[in-house]
Amino acid sequence: MALRSILEYPDPRLRTRAQTVTTFDAALGTLIDDLLETMYAAPGIGLAATQVDVHQRLVVIDVSDERNAPLVIINPEIIEREGEAKTEEGCLSVPGIFDEIKRATRIRLRSHDRAGQVNESEYTDLLAVCIQHEMDHLEGKLFVDYLSQMKRERIRKKLDKERRERTAEAARGAGGARRAY
Ligand code: NI
Repeated sequence: MALRSILEYPDPRLRTRAQTVTTFDAALGTLIDDLLETMYAAPGIGLAATQVDVHQRLVVIDVSDERNAPLVIINPEIIEREGEAKTEEGCLSVPGIFDEIKRATRIRLRSHDRAGQVNESEYTDLLAVCIQHEMDHLEGKLFVDYLSQMKRERIRKKLDKERRERTAEAARGAGGARRAY
């Protein structure tokens, strides 16, 4: 396993649309393990392959407090959505920035697992929000895209300044108990 480096906004590679995963082999297994290790180390509650510059439709998530419930979601497709609520989101690619985003509160998802088996499951609350956030990454979309142009510009300048002054790890730490994905 290896840690992968996480791309940061406004890196244009974060705008790449990911490709469908068609081969479920050992290389995919290694990528999944690397993504999990990178997510746990960040620390974050979710990570899309896009964020480590691998443009395949693959995300990993763990919203548990114990950090022992990893979820691997490949080729996700939302087949039902319900409700709407605002949740504070953060993103490992936009370190130290948090804002409220409106998402569906319940989704039904069809996806592949790491063995290539098709799954259909229902997710609610933070898990549903996190999946929608990660699926946006696969489309080249970031949570800051939902904010106003003015806010986005302010965020970009703040991150530029921080990158000059300190490390991204320190910026991520600035979120305190808040969670990023
Ligand atoms: Ni994110």
